[in-house]
Amino acid sequence: MPAVPCPAKLNRFLAVLGRRADGFHELELVTTVLEDVPDLMDRLEGEPAAELSLTITGPMSAGLAAGETNLVIKAWRLLEEAAGRSLPAALRLEKRIPHGAGLGGGSSDAAAALKLGNTLFRLGLEDSVLLGLAMRLGSDVPLFLLGGTVLGLGRGERVFPLRPVPLEPILLVHAHLHVSTPSVYRALQDVGYPFPEPLVSQQPGMAPPWRNDLTGAALWVCPPLAEVRDALRDTGGEPLLCGSGGCWAARYASDQARDVAAERISSHPGGWRLWRL
Ligand code: C5P
Repeated sequence: MPAVPCPAKLNRFLAVLGRRADGFHELELVTTVLEDVPDLMDRLEGEPAAELSLTITGPMSAGLAAGETNLVIKAWRLLEEAAGRSLPAALRLEKRIPHGAGLGGGSSDAAAALKLGNTLFRLGLEDSVLLGLAMRLGSDVPLFLLGGTVLGLGRGERVFPLRPVPLEPILLVHAHLHVSTPSVYRALQDVGYPFPEPLVSQQPGMAPPWRNDLTGAALWVCPPLAEVRDALRDTGGEPLLCGSGGCWAARYASDQARDVAAERISSHPGGWRLWRL
């Protein structure tokens, strides 16, 4: 059965440049698509069938709806619109990326659905058409069509390939905290940070800083995030919130320092989930 991998993403740089009239925020992002982390990757497979269906399995499938609200089905409906016909298929999604964690799992699944449907039904839709559909699905969907290291502008949906930025030794921690993205963006007003000037896209070749401007707002919405950040700091890591939360990615000076930290964090009574990147 044809299958498409759905990797997670890591925003190593996320600047919020301002609030727009349409309610979205103007962003500048540098995102790495984590193409080499098998235990942090969803997988979408499918074959033509009498009608469209979606089955969700895997360690992170609990509580996920498989109906019209699922981004895979929404992506499929957009493909049908573009193709001008129905595309009945039996789809199976294996979930390993936690949802609501800032790792882009749902967006990656949606991008995979666009690719899978295009191949499975030989639609021959050009990359530019798929990118247009991806933008309609969500700000983070287009970057997964590009892969690699990506500069995101606008609300994040205008994507440009960047030369790869090598990742430092990183420990990714999911403390089972789920944060709602819209509430974090709303909280930006409560936190009241001044908006900074654009940075990365103005200085070609500059290594993007380890920075996420949504951190203060996410801590405002979900105070328990601070416990995870502090635990990572205590191990000598430099924690960075993933997207709007709730995962943290901590970078370390060496693989050894990261591995020692992983040992310590894995004994936390909260049963936190860890990945080494
Ligand atoms: O585009 P997406 O569906 O992922 O956005 C989810 C929500 O996050 C939006 O409804 C909006 O509240 C907020 N958002 C924003 N500015 C962005 C991206 C998302 O305000 N650039």
